[in-house]
Amino acid sequence: MPRTVRICDGPQELAACAAEHIAAAARDAVDARGRFTVALSGGDTPVGTYARLAAGNGVSVPWEEVHVFWGDERCIPLERADNHFTMATELLLSRVPIPSHNIHRARGEAADPAAAATEYEAELLRFFDPPAGGFPELDLVLLGMGEDGHVASLFPGSDGYRERNRLVVDHYVIKRGERVRRLTLTMPVLTAAREVMVLVSGDLKADMLAAVLRGEADVPARELNAGVRDITWFADREAAVALDRDEAAVRR
Ligand code: 6PG
Repeated sequence: MPRTVRICDGPQELAACAAEHIAAAARDAVDARGRFTVALSGGDTPVGTYARLAAGNGVSVPWEEVHVFWGDERCIPLERADNHFTMATELLLSRVPIPSHNIHRARGEAADPAAAATEYEAELLRFFDPPAGGFPELDLVLLGMGEDGHVASLFPGSDGYRERNRLVVDHYVIKRGERVRRLTLTMPVLTAAREVMVLVSGDLKADMLAAVLRGEADVPARELNAGVRDITWFADREAAVALDRDEAAVRR
């Protein structure tokens, strides 16, 4: 169960490292299994990574064989720049030769988010065809982490956080004091992935990152870190400031 922490100097280095890692994971998966399945994230942290992947400079991805999903989606109109699908499309997907039928999204803009969650779950089941009662095995799930230790839209105390049977839930979460509705993959889907990478930037997340890696915080990010097969934390220097020297850049 590899647990790796990679410290990058600043946000730009973090974006470069993360883009290279994703590209290498894509090439390996396509070599091994003929396709690469990845769940993207929203939020601010992956913006630079998407831009790097789109620019391509030295980062080569076999886009024809890439299938894109999302770890979560905001229940907001598509016209909003912080809609996860819209953001990834503008920064990345519209700039690379990925076939449109390889894009599998959660319809956060739907009038009925519960129906959109059921529809996204059905798409995951159709595509991955897991055994009865099993969960899809994404090659890579890309995530950010909130200051409160949330990942995707699994927040401490949110209804869907403890869901163990469904693949996707829709629920309300409190983000930075605001009550907002989200669609999200559930924890069993996140932990069933072959690999997870979490991008963490900025000193506001430093204490939570240290607590999660030490197993000291009862938050979704700790459960993810403990439960997934292979996880790499990409942190910039500010986010890593509370880590001891041997907690950083170590494959454990
Ligand atoms: C979102 C994601 C969320 C995000 C973290 C970190 O909708 O924003 O679901 O899990 O990855 O909140 O966000 P930042 O990258 O913006 O700090």
